Amino acid sequence: MSKLNDAINKQYNFEIESAYLYVSMAHYMEEKGMSGFAHFFLKQAHEEIEHAEKMSHYLFSIDEKPTLEAIKKPQEEFGNFTETFKAAYEHEQEVTKRINELYDFSIEENDHKATSMLQWFVDEQVEEEDSFRTLIEQLERVNESWAGLYLLDEKLGQR
Ligand SMILES: [Fe+2]
Repeated sequence: MSKLNDAINKQYNFEIESAYLYVSMAHYMEEKGMSGFAHFFLKQAHEEIEHAEKMSHYLFSIDEKPTLEAIKKPQEEFGNFTETFKAAYEHEQEVTKRINELYDFSIEENDHKATSMLQWFVDEQVEEEDSFRTLIEQLERVNESWAGLYLLDEKLGQR
């Protein structure tokens, strides 16, 4: 496997690791009785699996077999509600950093098909970060009040 494809395979694994983290956040929310927030994080986890599948599909399509690596045990406690969403946002910023590095690497390698595949991820990260920023802004306004939290929980449960 080329160095670039190997790096794509690493990101493939990191997408699955992201899903694992969001499942853990869903458990944390469910435990606190916030089923809307839990639903939101589970959906987020499903999206991460879809992202991973886009990458494994790409690797197979260029005749490379993706490799699954061991996934580290995710964190289980994330603080209060605002802090939990902030932790998710920080994770998305880390994903963006890694995607951008991969994108740059594909350009350095003149691998147009990889650049094209990664373009989708560059765009997707803009949306991911935007949606978390919006939620954090709303959570900060609510300031951990139960009335506000239940309204947001209700809203995210319908996502
Ligand atoms: Fe992702």
